[in-house]
Amino acid sequence: MLGLSVFLGFCLLFESYLVVPEWVVWIGRWHPVLVHFPIVLLLGVIFLGFTRRNFPVLLFEIAVVSALLTAITGFFLARDVVVKGSLLWWHQYLGAGVALGAAFWYGFRREMQQRTYLQWGIQVILLALILAAGHYGGMTTHGEDFLAFPGEKAKRELPENPLIYQDVVQVILDDHCVKCHNPSKQKGELLLTSLDGLRTGGENGPVIVPGDMERSEIIRRLHLPLADEAHMPPQGERPLDKSQIRMIERWVALGAPDTLRMNDLPIQEPLLGLLKELREPKREDKWAGLPKVADSTIENLGNDYTTIRRISGNSEALSVNIYLPPTYDSTTVTSLRALSGNIVELDLSGLPIGRTELEWVGNCPNMEWLEIDRTPVADSTFRPLANLLKLEVLKIYETGLGDASLPILMGMGGLRHVYLYGTQFSGRALDIFRQQRPEVTLHTGIDPENLPFPDHDAEGPIVGEKDSLAGQGSLARVPAGKKKEDL
Ligand code: HEC
Repeated sequence: MLGLSVFLGFCLLFESYLVVPEWVVWIGRWHPVLVHFPIVLLLGVIFLGFTRRNFPVLLFEIAVVSALLTAITGFFLARDVVVKGSLLWWHQYLGAGVALGAAFWYGFRREMQQRTYLQWGIQVILLALILAAGHYGGMTTHGEDFLAFPGEKAKRELPENPLIYQDVVQVILDDHCVKCHNPSKQKGELLLTSLDGLRTGGENGPVIVPGDMERSEIIRRLHLPLADEAHMPPQGERPLDKSQIRMIERWVALGAPDTLRMNDLPIQEPLLGLLKELREPKREDKWAGLPKVADSTIENLGNDYTTIRRISGNSEALSVNIYLPPTYDSTTVTSLRALSGNIVELDLSGLPIGRTELEWVGNCPNMEWLEIDRTPVADSTFRPLANLLKLEVLKIYETGLGDASLPILMGMGGLRHVYLYGTQFSGRALDIFRQQRPEVTLHTGIDPENLPFPDHDAEGPIVGEKDSLAGQGSLARVPAGKKKEDL
């Protein structure tokens, strides 16, 4: 018992110097189960003490040993568990106080029995400590997969429209960084458990410079060679993969916002592709059959007004964004014919496209995301798009489309989201659509994409057209096609 007490004291004193292996952490996971024994046993002993009965020494011994074991497993557990704030700190020290207090009482029980006030004192103190430790323990809530072996933990599911900071960036930090940068173990004086911690920075000042990833210490460290001492996480820890680093980078580049959500991102934002991959890791596979496209082809077809990029790394799936050039004709769009089979995302919003362009779009069989909002598309020219069976997201807001195009929408089997405010669709037609295709979300309000949004890192030319609705937020329908001249 003395040995256990000394060991516990040692753990607490040298906590920040200890590195415990995974299996020890796993033993720690039994803490929440064990913790009930000493509580019941100690309360029993205290109760018997108060009523001045003689309690069996064996009961006392079991109570103290179980309290010490509980505190030690709790200590192991704390190496692994991430709890925000100082709850864990309090719980840890109060819990250790219970165990050491009980051991002290046991060690000096004879002396204390002679002086009743001492005995009463220690009993009252223990009772208070048990209640307080239990209170803080209860607040440090645990996930359901708590007793799972290391590595078995279920992957956290990404919400439908995740917050970039909380659901993406912080989750990466939680998995890779927080075990060394938390309130009870704050390496480099840096807290990575909250946005405040990130903003405050560490011993060498701020670690993120919102909007400027080049000058952000955290990103510099993620990019260092693995063998570099300053690389984070340090050698021996699982490093971040490329896309995780890229997501943190993009978040910083976007100004390290707190409330930004996935659906607020403009389509050309690379973060969108990364998030989609996160949700469907097999996405690459589904594109494995796409025709090969050379980097040089992509380069040749792109220009200041046409940005073409691979959805991720070396995928053959392309995302294309066309801005309104000074002189426009249909070849601005149809010159991409060579990429028809590769384009899965296409943004033509605001362009004066006509029948020729739409016919070509209808021949892009792998299209999943299409934006033709604020274009002159009309019921008479919409028909070719009936071929887009894989289309998931369609933006047609502020166009002249109306009920006559509904059957075409109805036939697009892959459809999940349609943005169609400011169109001619009647409420009745939309109700019918909703009944028949309940899995499709019809967005009839203001598109979040058009809300003011700080894009500090816009790539490519800033052509007013694409951002022109920012801040305007008007639902008034502007006759399609007319808009461009007005602006
Ligand atoms: C195994 C423990 C450990 C892990 C895991 C870890 N760090 Fe660190 N971190 C340290 C130590 C120790 C220091 C202080 C020494 C130094 O500056 O290199 C530090 C310092 C830092 C600093 C510099 C703070 C300053 O102001 O000097 C940053 C930034 C940082 N870490 C970021 C991260 C990020 C991001 C992760 C996750 C990807 C991470 N760390 C994971 C141990 C760790």
